[in-house]
Amino acid sequence: MPARKVAIVGAGAVGASAAYALALSGTCHEILLYDIVPEMAIGKAIDIAQSTNYSPRGTVVRAAIKPEDLENCDLVVITAGVPRNKKMTRADLLYINADIVKEVAEHIKNYSPNAVILCVSNPLDVMTYVVHRITGWDRNRIIGMGGALDSLRMAYQIHEKIGFGAAQTRAMVIGEHGENMIPYPEITNVGGVPLSQIVSKEDMEEIAAKTKDGGAQIVRYLKTSAFYAPGRAISVMVESILSDEEKVIPSCAMLNGEYGYTDVAVGVPCVIGAGGIKKIIELDLDEVTEIKFAKAVESIKENIVILKDGGFFD
Ligand code: NAI
Ligand code: 2OP
Repeated sequence: MPARKVAIVGAGAVGASAAYALALSGTCHEILLYDIVPEMAIGKAIDIAQSTNYSPRGTVVRAAIKPEDLENCDLVVITAGVPRNKKMTRADLLYINADIVKEVAEHIKNYSPNAVILCVSNPLDVMTYVVHRITGWDRNRIIGMGGALDSLRMAYQIHEKIGFGAAQTRAMVIGEHGENMIPYPEITNVGGVPLSQIVSKEDMEEIAAKTKDGGAQIVRYLKTSAFYAPGRAISVMVESILSDEEKVIPSCAMLNGEYGYTDVAVGVPCVIGAGGIKKIIELDLDEVTEIKFAKAVESIKENIVILKDGGFFD
């Protein structure tokens, strides 16, 4: 079996949940947790390591203390970032997280030059673009996790509405991981049956609206953003890459002409396997969805332009 060494940079709520999900399944030989606050990485690594003796296969879980400890990883997940506080504008947060992701991407470039990078930090699509620009790597090796989570949320909303088909729903959410997210009920199915043949058009609209509100709903209850479902979504993507499962997963990918766009990272269905994105699937979008997709791209590009104009990539 090929080596399966995975680093998770950012041992906060999402990074630790991803590490725990991976440790439960025994997917990796080794998981490294790295954080700018070493105690965070050390404490969580010990806690998760102590869970592994009950797993189907052993996983070594330890903390990486220095950036150099991130050497020779097959895959690195970036979950480092700071949450937005009341004093920050969206642009402030954009710059702060872009600086963090840039620093992390440089460490990965130095110490794990052959890795696949799974970016999770927000704003997701722009941060995925940042990783791409900073590494300069082949675009297939840079993936953003957004649609995998949003489609889990959509499947949840469908089950809430219809009450059957749990774990049988194949939901599709494309576009931005944010306000311009595009839940796509028209191509979603439950056990192979098109959703449009199970629920009304009004119900499909309600499911889409609740899916878009999924992240905010958790924040309303917890006063912090979600971590268990994001952790699971990350682990499924990591498994698909390490085991070359070639799963079709909506993922944030750099476009190079697909859907008519270039120089932007946005959520589209991708075949995820060894080496990262093996194929971008170009959906034949209906007219309304095409307009929504254009709006998503425009919104992501606006933030990329803010970084470009501020000299971030110079
Ligand atoms: P958190 O605040 O619990 O954890 C973030 C961790 O990053 C902290 O432990 C912090 O010390 C660390 N960190 C900060 N700067 C760092 C640096 N330069 N190097 C290494 N570590 C550093 O936040 P949480 O909830 O884990 O979220 C992490 C990120 O993931 C956020 O940007 C959040 O918005 C995003 N997110 C994205 C989702 C998606 O679907 N793409 C879903 C959920 C969260
Ligand atoms: C979420 O969707 C905050 O991106 C994060 O929960």
